[in-house]
Amino acid sequence: MTHKIAVLPGDGIGPEITEQATRVLRALDLDLDLQTMPVGGAAYDQFGHPLPPQVLELAKSADAILFGAVGDWKYDSLARELRPEQAILGLRKALGLFANLRPAILYPQLANASSLKPEVVSGLDILIVRELTGDIYFGQPRGVREVEDGQFKGERQGFDTMHYAETEVRRIAHVAFQAAQKRSKKLCSVDKSNVLETSQFWREIVIDVAKEYPDVALSHMYVDNAAMQLVRAPKEFDVIVTGNLFGDILSDEAAMLTGSIGMLPSASLNSANQGLYEPSHGSAPDIAGKNMANPLATILSAAMLLRYSLGKADQAQKIEQAVQAVLEQGLRTADIFEEGLTKVSTSEMGDAVLKALK
Ligand code: IPM
Ligand code: MG
Repeated sequence: MTHKIAVLPGDGIGPEITEQATRVLRALDLDLDLQTMPVGGAAYDQFGHPLPPQVLELAKSADAILFGAVGDWKYDSLARELRPEQAILGLRKALGLFANLRPAILYPQLANASSLKPEVVSGLDILIVRELTGDIYFGQPRGVREVEDGQFKGERQGFDTMHYAETEVRRIAHVAFQAAQKRSKKLCSVDKSNVLETSQFWREIVIDVAKEYPDVALSHMYVDNAAMQLVRAPKEFDVIVTGNLFGDILSDEAAMLTGSIGMLPSASLNSANQGLYEPSHGSAPDIAGKNMANPLATILSAAMLLRYSLGKADQAQKIEQAVQAVLEQGLRTADIFEEGLTKVSTSEMGDAVLKALK
């Protein structure tokens, strides 16, 4: 059976890193049909839109999407709906990719990469489950309007709307509880229920879903405290579930705990297990085209793709072991380089992973 994979490299370092990941996928003994299309700024340049219909069609028809990164300063002056970020937001919404899994793992070989003390982060392995298609990211109405009364009457005002429907909270809660069941059976739901109605509702639904998972210990934390606890004692967490906006912020924080955001993959899944897989880092336009970006997060995203969307856990593990092996060999791209180890380029890192696969 042939699996169709849409490869959307995007902008900045996106093309270089996805190239290494597709080399790895091609080297495996799998029947894959890889089809590449531009997305984000690259698609805007070519087709006048960050997510043109033909790219969306390819993504919809694929079993999985391997996504690089989007965004570049040169698109900063475009209208919001034409900016590269709209491509990833549009794909998430159009494909219903509501469940975003963002692991933050500190590889033992990279223990010194974190800005936190080694004893605080050594062995860190947490999973952030971020809701990805709701919340203030997509809530309507939004825009700029004139204030009708009160202190600021007559002024312009920017506004967005935060809301969560019961189904949206339930389905992400189920994903998180099930992930917790496969790990240490601890789930922390993060909200701002001391202030926000949306969060009070979120908490109420999560507590209700918890009845179906008596083996999982559920706790709750306000997002400000969670941000603090993540740097104070990150190993107290195992699985965190949270909404779209808080998840955006906390997942960057969690990634940085590992000191190597260049290592972290992510998966965004819908209810049919169709998924979009992308590195947790961005498009890094400052180092684009220099063959120095770290391709490992994208290579590990390809491993997640095999595991979650194609059901090929054995092949996924092969990739993960190959990545471990190259770290063992002391190979490092610039972002994770330490004195005494071997600095390699993007393509050399890809070569090394391919070699370790054999
Ligand atoms: C992420 C990114 C996106 C988000 C941007 C690029 C729209 O920061 O995937 O975390 O905010 O979700
Ligand atoms: Mg983000």
